[in-house]
Amino acid sequence: MDVKKLFSLEGRRGFITGGAQGIGECLANAFSELGADVAIVDVNQDKAKAAAEKIAGKTKGKVIAYGCDVTSPESVDKMLAAYISDFGRLDYAINNAGICAMDGALEITPKTFESVIDVNLNGVFYTARAAAKQMVAQGGGGSIISTASMSAHIINQPQTIAAYCASKAGVVSLTKGLAVELSKYHIRVNCVSPGYIQTELVASLKDMLGIWLGKMPEGSRLGFPEDLIGAYVFLASDASAWATGSDVVVDGGLYNPLKTAETKKGRPCGRPFAFTVKP
Ligand SMILES: NC(=O)c1ccc[n+]([C@@H]2O[C@H](COP(=O)([O-])OP(=O)(O)OC[C@H]3O[C@@H](n4cnc5c(N)ncnc54)[C@H](O)[C@@H]3O)[C@@H](O)[C@H]2O)c1
Repeated sequence: MDVKKLFSLEGRRGFITGGAQGIGECLANAFSELGADVAIVDVNQDKAKAAAEKIAGKTKGKVIAYGCDVTSPESVDKMLAAYISDFGRLDYAINNAGICAMDGALEITPKTFESVIDVNLNGVFYTARAAAKQMVAQGGGGSIISTASMSAHIINQPQTIAAYCASKAGVVSLTKGLAVELSKYHIRVNCVSPGYIQTELVASLKDMLGIWLGKMPEGSRLGFPEDLIGAYVFLASDASAWATGSDVVVDGGLYNPLKTAETKKGRPCGRPFAFTVKP
């Protein structure tokens, strides 16, 4: 077996949503360095263009920016049509655009709640479905990868982000559902669940960095976008040929079921909380 070929992205073509900055930009750079053609898709077109130019200048690869709001199926269809006219085919699609709202459940407005679900869950569905339709039409399968989160598995504290957690749990379930439906077309659908990654998304929560670090296992640390490259390369390459419906958790050990079990063992009785029952 040619192991180098197994992990190769040489000649692969695809798009990365939310690619103008943070995790998406880091992945765009990494994929381009590994020889893939990359479309950077973002609602912030100027920033996407700047990122594409910077990456292409460095790697000399094909990197093109597209303005697109993933919450609009029409905008997604338009983006994909432009992408196909520039790239010809779609081998991988990374649905990574996401937002977070910190408003607590008692304060959050329906509009804000809906906007989180709209970008993080509906947006992932719209881009994943558009990618799947293209992959079915061209034949030969493909790899669809979405960015879920640790927040699909834990409830983050002390921030109050129930809407975000719900949207990301939805991404994991959507991934598994699409994987089953699209298997007959040899389209693999997987997701990555990152832990705390130091990007703009968490910049307004700088005061919490120490608290989050305290929740990590001894010897671990908070993450950087670069810590995620391996998971996405694995899922976009033939190395993951038998992986579909998978959720790859990359979080420095934050979500650690063993740690939870240990904590429980330390408690005096099985019940973690005592509720007062009124007579
Ligand atoms: N940073 C973390 O700690 C962390 C942890 C787990 C998961 N994630 C997830 O990783 C993904 C990337 O996050 P990041 O930290 O790089 O955030 P970021 O804020 O740095 O980047 C997000 C990008 O998405 C784009 N975007 C937002 N709404 C969009 C829309 N409607 N259409 C198209 N593009 C849109 C933004 O313009 C931005 O370029 C998100 O899905 C996020 O939820 C982040």
